Amino acid sequence: MSERDSVMHSWCVQANWQAPTIVGGSGAYLWDDSGRRYLDMSSLAECSNLGHQHPAVVAAIRAQAEQLCFVTSAWGARPRAQLAELLLEKSGMQGGRVFFTLGGADANEHAVKFARQARGLPQGLVIARERSYHGASYACMALSGDARTCHQIDAERLDVVHVAPPYPYRCRWNSRNDEECGERAAAAVAAVIDERGAEQVAAVIMEPNAGTNGIVAPDSYWPALRRATRDSGVMLIADEVMSGFGRCGEWFAWQRHGADNAPDLITLAKGLTGAHAPLGAVIVGPAVAARLENQMLSTGLTYCGHPLSCAAGVAAMQVYEREDLIARSRRLGVAMFERLRALQTRHSMIGDVRGGHGLFAVLELVRDRATRTPLAPWPETPQEFKRLLAAALAQGVSFAARGNLIILAPPLVIVESDLTAALDLLDRLLTEGVSA
Ligand SMILES: Cc1ncc(COP(=O)(O)O)c(C=O)c1O
Repeated sequence: MSERDSVMHSWCVQANWQAPTIVGGSGAYLWDDSGRRYLDMSSLAECSNLGHQHPAVVAAIRAQAEQLCFVTSAWGARPRAQLAELLLEKSGMQGGRVFFTLGGADANEHAVKFARQARGLPQGLVIARERSYHGASYACMALSGDARTCHQIDAERLDVVHVAPPYPYRCRWNSRNDEECGERAAAAVAAVIDERGAEQVAAVIMEPNAGTNGIVAPDSYWPALRRATRDSGVMLIADEVMSGFGRCGEWFAWQRHGADNAPDLITLAKGLTGAHAPLGAVIVGPAVAARLENQMLSTGLTYCGHPLSCAAGVAAMQVYEREDLIARSRRLGVAMFERLRALQTRHSMIGDVRGGHGLFAVLELVRDRATRTPLAPWPETPQEFKRLLAAALAQGVSFAARGNLIILAPPLVIVESDLTAALDLLDRLLTEGVSA
C-alpha cells in the first residue's frame, strides 16, 4: 500500500494528493526515490532555513540520542537550558524565561495563556488580524483570520476579534502610501482597545513584518502597534514562527525596529531547529516573567522541551551564527527582491512585489494590473497558476503558492547561482504563459 492510500495528508483533498516520496536532501536540494532532484524555493513550509540535513544539526541530534533521548520538564535537561539561554540572549530578553512547545500553534496558544494570566484576565480579549495564520488547533483557528478555516470556529466565543491587516496593495483605508496604511492598521487596533476598554483586552498577537498569508507590514506598523499596546498596558505578542531566524534579515523580525519596540512575548518554531526536529517556544519577556514568577502555571505538554529537539535547536543557533546566515539572508534578500521588481516590469501578471528584508518575498498575481483584479478570489489558487507551479516542478524547482501569491522563501544557505537559475525559470514560465 502506498502513502497515497494510507496517510491522511494535511491541507489537501485526500483523493487529489500526489507527491514524490522524498528520501534525502542537502543544502537547498531534496531528492526523491527515483533520484530526481528539486531545488526548494520555499524551505518546505518556510521552515528549513538551514537547508536540508545540515550536518552539524544532524550530528547534534545523534550525539544527544546517544546520551539521553527524553526526560520530562519535571527534570532538568542540559540542551534545554542551553537553548533557553541562547534565545534570551539573541532576543535581548535576558531576565525573561522560555517555555518550550512542540511547534508553532501550541506556542501561540501558550503565549495567549501567559498574557492572559499575567494581565489577570483569564478570558481577556485578544486582538488578531484578518488574513493571518497562527496555526490549525482550535484556539489558533480562532486567532487566525484565515478564510480557509474561520467558518470552523466562532472566534468571538473564544474572546478573539480581528482587525483589518496592514495591506497597502489593497489598503482598507485607501491610504496614500504604504506607511500611512501601516499606521491606519495599527490605529484600528488602538480603536478596538479603546472601544472594548483596555482593562478587558489581554493581548494583541501579530506577525511583525512578513506574514504567512502574504501580507508584508510597512515599517510604520510595528512601532505604532507597540505604542498603542504599551500605552494601554495590553500585552504585545510577536508571532515569529515563520519570520524568525533570519527569514526577515534579523534574528527576529521585530528587531528591525530596535529594542524600544520589543514585544512582551515572542513565539517561535520552524527555523528554531531549521525543521530538523519539531520544536516551538515562547520567549516570555522579563516583565511578564516577573509577574508569573510566583503564580501556578497550570499547563504543559508531555514533550515540552524534548532534549533531542533542544539539542537540534542549540546546534541550529550555532550554525546561524557560525555561517553568518542572518546577514546572508539580508544580502540575498535584497538581490532577490530587486530581481523580482525587474520581473514585474516585464510581466503584467505581477501586480505587486513585497518583502525583501531577508530571503522572503511575495508576488501577487493579478488578471489586470490597472484594476488589480485578482487571478482568483482569495484564497483560491487559480488553475493557470497551478500549471505554472507544475511546470516549474517538472523542471526541478519547487515554488510555494498561496491563493494568488507566489511565496519565495528559499533556505538561507541557497547557492546564489541556484537562486538566479530559479528566478530565470520563473521569468521564462511567465513569458511562455501559463494559460495553455
Ligand atoms: C506565522 C505562523 N504562526 C504559527 C504557525 C503554526 O505553526 P505549526 O504548524 O508549527 O503549528 C505557522 C505555520 O505555518 C505560521 O506560519
